[in-house]
Amino acid sequence: MSRIISVLGSTGSIGRQSLEVMERCHMRAAALTARVNVTMLEAQARKFHPRLAVMTDPKAASDLRVKLADTEIRVLSGPEGLLEAATIPDADTVITGVVGVAGLAPTLAAIRCGKRIALANKETLVCAGELVMEQADACGAEIIPVDSEHSAIFQCLQGNRDRGEVKRLILTASGGPFFGYSKEQLRGVTLAQALHHPNWSMGAKVTVDSATLINKGLELIEAMRLYRMPPEKISIVIHRESIIHSMVEYCDHAVLAQLGAADMRLPIQYALTWPDRIAGPARELDLLHCSPLTFAAPDLNAFPGLKLAMNAAARGGTAPAVFSGANEAAVDLFLREKICFSRIPELVGDALCEVSHICKPQLEDIMAADQMARQSVRRRFS
Ligand SMILES: NC(=O)c1ccc[n+]([C@@H]2O[C@H](COP(=O)([O-])OP(=O)(O)OC[C@H]3O[C@@H](n4cnc5c(N)ncnc54)[C@H](OP(=O)(O)O)[C@@H]3O)[C@@H](O)[C@H]2O)c1
Repeated sequence: MSRIISVLGSTGSIGRQSLEVMERCHMRAAALTARVNVTMLEAQARKFHPRLAVMTDPKAASDLRVKLADTEIRVLSGPEGLLEAATIPDADTVITGVVGVAGLAPTLAAIRCGKRIALANKETLVCAGELVMEQADACGAEIIPVDSEHSAIFQCLQGNRDRGEVKRLILTASGGPFFGYSKEQLRGVTLAQALHHPNWSMGAKVTVDSATLINKGLELIEAMRLYRMPPEKISIVIHRESIIHSMVEYCDHAVLAQLGAADMRLPIQYALTWPDRIAGPARELDLLHCSPLTFAAPDLNAFPGLKLAMNAAARGGTAPAVFSGANEAAVDLFLREKICFSRIPELVGDALCEVSHICKPQLEDIMAADQMARQSVRRRFS
C-alpha cells in the first residue's frame, strides 16, 4: 500500500499510533507536526525522514531547527507551518490528529488540494461540518473517519447504495469512568479519576470528554455531518465493554455491527487502506474470552453535557461551534484544576445561552462563535 502521508499532531495519541500503522504497512511520511514536544518530534523525524517537520510553537520550532541541522528536513513554525504540512504536494493523505478547533484550517486546506483526509480531529466536523463536507464534495476529497465509532459505521455502510435504506445509526459509548454515578457523586470526582478511562488510552482532552459524555455529543454531531443523517436518526447506547464500536440499523431491522479490540490502530489503518484491507498491528479480538456484551441508555440527568450536544445538534447553525469551543475552554480549565468536573457542562450551557446564534453561518461566523464561546467560559470563571 503506497501512501505518502502528512501526520498532523504526530506526537499525540492518534499521531503515534498512526506512525506505528505506517511503519508496519510500509507507508511514508511527507510531513510531521506537533505543538511543543520537540524531543518526540525529533525522534520521529529521524526515524521517518519526512521532507517537513512543523512545531506550531515558535520557540519549539527554533529548538527543533537546531536539533535537525544535520538533516535535510525543513523545519517550519506556527499555523502557517501547519497549513504547509496539510498541503505539501508529496502527500496524498493527511491524518488530522491535532486536538481542538486548531485542526479546522489545515483540514480545509488539505481538502482544497483534493487529498484523502483520515479524519481524527472531530472538532472540525462539529464546528464547520456543512462547509467541510460541501468543500470535500466540490474538491473530490475523500473524508474517511478515524474515530472508532464513525469508522465502525463507515464499515457497516460498505455496500449500501441508498441511504434511504438506513433506519438509524447507533453510536456506542463506553460510559467512561463515571458510569452509574449520580449528579451528586459527580461533584466530588477528581482530575486523576476523570483521566482514567476504563477501556481506551487517549489524549487528555478526549479522555475528559469521554468522562462527561460530551465526547459522545461531539460524535453525534460528527456522525450527522459525515453521514448526512438528522439527529433523530442517531441513537446513543452505553456499551461498557467497547467491543461493538457502533452499528447501523437498516429499514428491514437488520442491525450490522463492527466488533474489534479497543485498539485505535485498526480504524486508523482502515482510513489509510480503504477500500482495501491488509494485515496490520491492531490486536485480535478474542471472542471466547471477552466479557458479555451489555447495553444501557445514557443518563442525561447525571451527564447534562450530552443533552446540551443533542440540543446544539438539533439547532444547527453556530450552536455546535459554541458547544465545542466552550467545552474546549472548560476542559482546559478543568485540566489545570481551576474548576471542578461538574462545572464543565454548566459553563458550556451558559455559553450556549449567551452567544448569539447564526442559522446559516460562513466560516468567519463559525470562528467568531468559537471565540465568543471561549470568552464566555473564561469570563464566568474569572
Ligand atoms: N486518542 C484517541 O484515541 C482518539 C480517538 C478518537 C478521536 N480522537 C480525536 O483525535 C484528535 C487528537 O486526539 P489525541 O488524543 O491524539 O490528542 P493528543 O494526544 O492530545 O495529541 C494532540 C496532538 O496535536 C498537537 N497539538 C495540540 N494542540 C495543538 C495546536 N493548538 N496546534 C497544533 N497542534 C497541536 C500535539 O502536539 P504536542 O504533543 O507537542 O502538544 C499532539 O501532537 C482529537 O480531536 C480527538 O478528539 C482521538
